[in-house]
Amino acid sequence: MRYKNVLITGGAGFIGSNLSLKLIERGYTITVLDKLSEQIHGADPETDSPLYNSIKSKVNFIRGSVTSRQDWLKALENQDVIVHLAAETGTGQSMYEIERYTTENIGATALMLDILTNTRHSVKKVVIASSRAIYGEGRYIAENNEFVYPEARKEEDMLKGDFEVKHPVTRAKLALTGTDEQSKIHPTSVYGITKQVQEQLVMTVCKTIGIAAVAFRYQNVYGPGQSLTNPYTGILSIFSSLIKNGKAINIFEDGEESRDFVFIDDVVDATILGIEKEAADNEVFNVGTGVPVDVITVVKNLIACYGIPVDFNISGNFRLGDIRHNYADLEKITRKLGFAPKIKFEDGLRKFADWVNMQQVNTTNTYEQSIEEMKAKGLYK
Ligand SMILES: NC(=O)c1ccc[n+]([C@@H]2O[C@H](COP(=O)([O-])OP(=O)(O)OC[C@H]3O[C@@H](n4cnc5c(N)ncnc54)[C@H](O)[C@@H]3O)[C@@H](O)[C@H]2O)c1
Repeated sequence: MRYKNVLITGGAGFIGSNLSLKLIERGYTITVLDKLSEQIHGADPETDSPLYNSIKSKVNFIRGSVTSRQDWLKALENQDVIVHLAAETGTGQSMYEIERYTTENIGATALMLDILTNTRHSVKKVVIASSRAIYGEGRYIAENNEFVYPEARKEEDMLKGDFEVKHPVTRAKLALTGTDEQSKIHPTSVYGITKQVQEQLVMTVCKTIGIAAVAFRYQNVYGPGQSLTNPYTGILSIFSSLIKNGKAINIFEDGEESRDFVFIDDVVDATILGIEKEAADNEVFNVGTGVPVDVITVVKNLIACYGIPVDFNISGNFRLGDIRHNYADLEKITRKLGFAPKIKFEDGLRKFADWVNMQQVNTTNTYEQSIEEMKAKGLYK
């Protein structure tokens, strides 16, 4: 084992708690720095947060914030690797809580790098959680076979029910293809911008101070343990809450928008390859399944998993900042790290739904509230 002590910021969250448990199994000593934010862990994490409870007795847990220099200094003692996951993660919410998202995501990463540059420490590697959100709309192929990276869709088109992306000049239709790591970076949300800057800060500064750095551009991560209470992220959680409460589902756009849903265990495996393999050093990688799944398919599969026949309505509503499609090209991570996702969407969804069936789910009010917030800011149409 090249490294022994790993600090995971945001290690009580969805990805972090699963990563912590798997790393402990492999013999690592884990420290978690997490503020246990109420949006994720509820008002009283001791009773409300299964994620926090799954790790608290197994890791060195520090309740603190990545925006605090003091908390970083405490957490950094004797660490070999930092996996920096702590962040605000709601794309829609980021469009009106701009200062908070920038401070928590960009500011905290800048603080981490400032400390690594200017203080004595033992850190040899930093792994940063980036996101497919940095790509904005993914990669497409035009009729002349050139790659095209379309800009955000026009509100006037979407108001007419025309949701597909178009060629920026000819406005012709485009064919979707996988987004590789060389694809244009042009986020359409404040969240995406913060992830881009976090990634660039880490990759640039670590190089200059001789620390290995790895960035993972995760696609949509799902699975048992994902937040069922955070109304700002995760359509699988939101739809599950609606179905389990017997409420109809309002599908945005025309339901043909798609995402690459990657199961949590695959994300943990990819991240561990990043920690352990030297071939990962100073590289950025997509992490996904390489398969786009549209929202209507998601809804139909979820309804089948729960066996609760709720109605769904394809509403034509949309949120500004949302992208149409994006799925990962996995050639690089397969070639350099030997990563291949193991869990198919249907199997992962079944595992997720089985887990949801064991939870208390009653979060539709917070979801409706989040939509009202977006409406009030003119971000939901
Ligand atoms: N889940 C996904 O689909 C996905 C996709 C792409 C990228 N990511 C990135 O992966 C990382 C982890 O995501 P997740 O899904 O596990 O999120 P999560 O919300 O479940 O976990 C984030 C954790 O960070 C903690 N946190 C937030 N702000 C903090 C602060 N200032 N100080 C200390 N702790 C803080 C929260 O309490 C929470 O435990 C994030 O950086 C996210 O942007 C996630």
